[in-house]
Amino acid sequence: MSTAQRDFTMEPYRAADDTFVIPWVYPTPPIGLFPINSLVIRGTEPVLVDTGSPACREVWLTNVSSVVDLDDVRWIFLSHDDRDHSGNLLAALAACPNATLLTTWYMLGRLAEEWTIPLNRCRFMNDGDVLDIGDRRIVAIRPPVFDSPTTRALFDERTGVLWSADAFATNVREPLADSADLAADAFRDGQLLGGRLVAPWHPLLDEDKFHAQVQKVQDLPITAITGGHTPAIRGPRIEEAFSLVRQLPVIKPWREFNQRTLDLWMAAIASLG
Ligand SMILES: [Fe+2]
Ligand SMILES: [Fe+2]
Repeated sequence: MSTAQRDFTMEPYRAADDTFVIPWVYPTPPIGLFPINSLVIRGTEPVLVDTGSPACREVWLTNVSSVVDLDDVRWIFLSHDDRDHSGNLLAALAACPNATLLTTWYMLGRLAEEWTIPLNRCRFMNDGDVLDIGDRRIVAIRPPVFDSPTTRALFDERTGVLWSADAFATNVREPLADSADLAADAFRDGQLLGGRLVAPWHPLLDEDKFHAQVQKVQDLPITAITGGHTPAIRGPRIEEAFSLVRQLPVIKPWREFNQRTLDLWMAAIASLG
């Protein structure tokens, strides 16, 4: 059965108390699938963390509303304005009339290339800002790697869940909810691939400065890493993930697929008739 014919449907899954990943997976031949996740934090003032891809809008809204009443959603935290994180933002603002968007000045400017976001529904939340949302505080922090200058990760001080945005991205072979189900080499290779894809400038990094930034994030009392492109990371795999991202300044760049690869793919598709 080809990738296009397989069913990759995933149900929302629990990452921690009152914290649910809204998953979707996207075929990325020949390296399997990439998760495209967002997150819901329930509680006194529920939060949507990122808004998924427009390609899965209907199922995304259905999945979000299966874990939280949309009228109760008080905050929408947008990690950055890339389409796979912001794709359903307007739909989310319309479906969640009581939600305020946690964004930044720069992000709003970039979103304005296409969308007008009502300013009276926005609140700026920059790297280092902390927001008290009743039963917990949430913290915006720059993740170790990112592919948009607007990116802030989000840390929930109550559960210890980190939303890493594009950091700790990995390809997977099957839809997965828990990185513990990846073999050791698949976890390592996936983390190193994802890190290099997100941060192709990794050979330019000053190792000491980069490690200091990684340490700042790792110093958080993290119980689980969730993110846009990874199954949940828990237990010893958290330290392993940080250890792998620290290798980015010294590992070789990933070799892009080239025209020869594309020609082979097209020939393979044509041979299927
Ligand atoms: Fe991104
Ligand atoms: Fe992303």
